[in-house]
Amino acid sequence: MDADFIIYNIGKLYTPYLTPPIHGKEMSDIQVIENAFIAIRDGLILDFGDHKYKQYKSRQTKMLDAKQMIVTPGFIDSHTHLVHAGSREDEYAKLRSGTPYLEILKAGGGILGTVEQTRKASFDALYHQAYASLTEMMHYGVTTVEAKSGYGLEIETEVKQLEVSKKLNEDHPVTVLSTYMGAHAVPREFQDHEEDYIKQVIADLDTIKTLDLATAVDVFCETGVFSIEETKEILERAKALGFPIKIHADEIDPLGGAGLGVDLGATSVDHLMAISDKDIRKLAYSKTVANLLPGTSFYLNKGYAPARKMIENQVAVSIAGDYNPGSCPTENFQFIMHLASNKLKMTPEEILTAVTINPAYHLHMDHLIGSIAKGKRADLVILDAPNLNYIFYHFGVSHTKHVMINGQIVVEDRQIVRES
Ligand code: NIG
Ligand code: FE
Repeated sequence: MDADFIIYNIGKLYTPYLTPPIHGKEMSDIQVIENAFIAIRDGLILDFGDHKYKQYKSRQTKMLDAKQMIVTPGFIDSHTHLVHAGSREDEYAKLRSGTPYLEILKAGGGILGTVEQTRKASFDALYHQAYASLTEMMHYGVTTVEAKSGYGLEIETEVKQLEVSKKLNEDHPVTVLSTYMGAHAVPREFQDHEEDYIKQVIADLDTIKTLDLATAVDVFCETGVFSIEETKEILERAKALGFPIKIHADEIDPLGGAGLGVDLGATSVDHLMAISDKDIRKLAYSKTVANLLPGTSFYLNKGYAPARKMIENQVAVSIAGDYNPGSCPTENFQFIMHLASNKLKMTPEEILTAVTINPAYHLHMDHLIGSIAKGKRADLVILDAPNLNYIFYHFGVSHTKHVMINGQIVVEDRQIVRES
């Protein structure tokens, strides 16, 4: 069968190949093919391997010479707060001089500051700001993004955020998956009667379900935000409605959100800087993926999640960017990957698993994306590096030469060539 597109002369092709979730020590198990090719047809991978691509070549086939560079599956950023209005650079000065993140929130700033701006913002303003960020992420090799709501904290604005994500998914080459996060903070108008807000979020879950605007539900389980009991109540209702569930867990205080996530069958538990040893053991061999966000530790000057301990205990780990205006204002996913290497002490192979197949699994997309495999979507990154180790070593820059999404080149020779 003829290919539409062939990428040839690939120095080294790297891909996970085991069935996810890939736990702990198996995360190092990566297939490497030297002098490889990838043949693509109708947006999907027709075949890949070493050398023998000529059988797929016709006069119409577009050819891309990878010039001995390396190729990996497109990166999957499985935790972002992509759609929001404004920015919080004033807060950065406070954080830098030592004011704790939760104190800023308690005083009505932080997430609540972005809520105020997002409520006021038009659909178009939110759309354009997020569109630009998405393009920036794509430049770093990100081909799929999970985007959470949670800056409305009232149904109208939550729906507006989710509709922006939906339109971005339709318009932008990057795949955008939406998560409803009405339980991101307690809004100002409910400060003295939080229990009523929980009831509101639970009622709003039905609306989100009816409108079919989200593929998952997330809760921020933290001191002063939502307790273990409240998180459980919200997520049990979400589960009953058929939503996959996630938890922002044990980020600052060790409340036990990770253990709750395993008990409830969460697809991922995220952050985990303060996770207990008991909950690491609970995560071991489970289907709940530990989604670590080292950019947040870096920006907030906090400790890092115990990634090595998790990997040694056979936990399935993924890495995500957590792009948001308050605790991780960057779209540079390759810097996040550097932090996973430098601060979480993960190996290049473990990190590749953690930004491809493991996040594809917890986003319920591993049948389509997350590895270079026949029949999967041709979402690929061609990186200007002699080997995988190099991209973790040479930090702070983008190594992306070309990016392909759905069989179409979207970044060519470092330039964005397709934005819609
Ligand atoms: O994942 N932790 C809670 N939510 C975000 C921060 C959101 C914000 O500060 O605006 C996070 O870090
Ligand atoms: Fe987050």
